[in-house]
Amino acid sequence: MSGENVKISKQQADRQIEIMELVRKHNCGRKPKALVETYGCQQNVNDSQRIMGMLEQMGYEITEQRENADVVVFNTCAVRENAEKRVFGNLGALKKLKDERPDMIIAICGCMVQQGEIANRIKKRFAHVDIIFGTFALWKFPELLSEVLEHRERLLDISGSGNIAEGLPFKHEGGAKAFVSVMYGCNNFCSYCIVPYVRGRERSRDKEDILREVRMLSENGVREVMLLGQNVNSYGMGAGEDSFSDLLKSVSEIEGIERIRFMSSHPKDISDKLLETMAENKKICNQLHLPLQSGSDKVLSDMNRRYNIEKYMEIIKKAKSLMPDIALTTDIIVGFPTETDEDFNKTLEVLENVRFDNIFSFIYSKRPGTAASKLKNVASDEEIKERFNRMLEVQTAISYERNKLHEGKTERVLVEGMSKNDPLVLSGRNYANKIVNFKGDESLKDTFADVKITKAKTWVLTGELV
Ligand code: 5AD
Ligand code: SF4
Repeated sequence: MSGENVKISKQQADRQIEIMELVRKHNCGRKPKALVETYGCQQNVNDSQRIMGMLEQMGYEITEQRENADVVVFNTCAVRENAEKRVFGNLGALKKLKDERPDMIIAICGCMVQQGEIANRIKKRFAHVDIIFGTFALWKFPELLSEVLEHRERLLDISGSGNIAEGLPFKHEGGAKAFVSVMYGCNNFCSYCIVPYVRGRERSRDKEDILREVRMLSENGVREVMLLGQNVNSYGMGAGEDSFSDLLKSVSEIEGIERIRFMSSHPKDISDKLLETMAENKKICNQLHLPLQSGSDKVLSDMNRRYNIEKYMEIIKKAKSLMPDIALTTDIIVGFPTETDEDFNKTLEVLENVRFDNIFSFIYSKRPGTAASKLKNVASDEEIKERFNRMLEVQTAISYERNKLHEGKTERVLVEGMSKNDPLVLSGRNYANKIVNFKGDESLKDTFADVKITKAKTWVLTGELV
């Protein structure tokens, strides 16, 4: 891992900045527009903010409409096949727009195109796509775009490995919340997962670079940061034990930052020190996303998860004893190839025992090149669908019960804006990251408000401003 843990050189970053300046001059006097469409996880959202930052630096105005965009970037996800199908569908739809406006530039990047076969398939089948660039080439986007603007040639760059790009702009989309990537890639090779193949080996950003970014965000009004990584618990591995707890502590010392969250954690790497740090430090929310994936030791072993249910339950017990109000969420995969009905029932048993506030459940999707892709399914699609529905039913009742516990309490809510359904209602999040709706004035947006929770529903809490 150590060989890969390198930042791009200052010259490489400076060259991109120079190119951005040239494109900006070229765009001067016009008002070109650019759209970045993001698929998948928060890491991708964060990458898209980098792409938008670079586009703004090049003189583009960010738009949300494909119809008036001069540049369209699709930042894609490969974790499940569904996401890939959606991208193919949407790419097809762009062809008509490009026929009407041949000057439009279409770029596709992210995890999906980091797979060589997919990149080549797009190159062959979608002649209207101008730029294809992978996760490792993200920082080269200005160079790629300027080449296409100048020479109108199609470009493919899925080269490179684990460089970390610092010193390039990113667009903070306003508001009091922000994502901050602390590490990239993953070394775990869970047998179902494509991430290590498309995002490369684990590499951590330097602590100073992270703190500088958080300070800058705080100066711009950010009050809550979510630290991101595929496996944040191994942040800075090699640089000393528990670097992540130390990082959390340093972030909490930054003026203006009042709430810290992080995701994702891997149960095999979570330490007592981390849980203790969470419990002691008032700024770190008592909220933990801890992917379980399955409740069966046999399936966990086939998934190469490297923990068993006993160990998982120990962490949960410790977390609950240190933080009685902790909100727990998890990821579950239903229908892993070796999962029998008996295995699945063990997953339900764990849900009943832990009582998660919420779960993110996924039907297993076979990913080319992964170890699990060679396994044969023991259950039929119908059986898997039935398991999935059964699980939702169990969890819906638990989530409602968990939400009920908030009733009557006064909680601090970071207000995000007006609710989608009612312009008189504000919407924000409590420490547990649960949505809280309450009546209030728009001026409260991006500030903390004390709200008494009056009614719990399964997926949202309602309250009154105190
Ligand atoms: N099929 C279904 N779900 C998957 N995940 C990762 N890979 C797959 C796959 N091949 C889920 C895991 C992970 C979450 C981000 O996505 O639950 O924690
Ligand atoms: Fe994928 Fe496992 Fe790494 Fe998470 S920890 S990104 S599931 S390989």
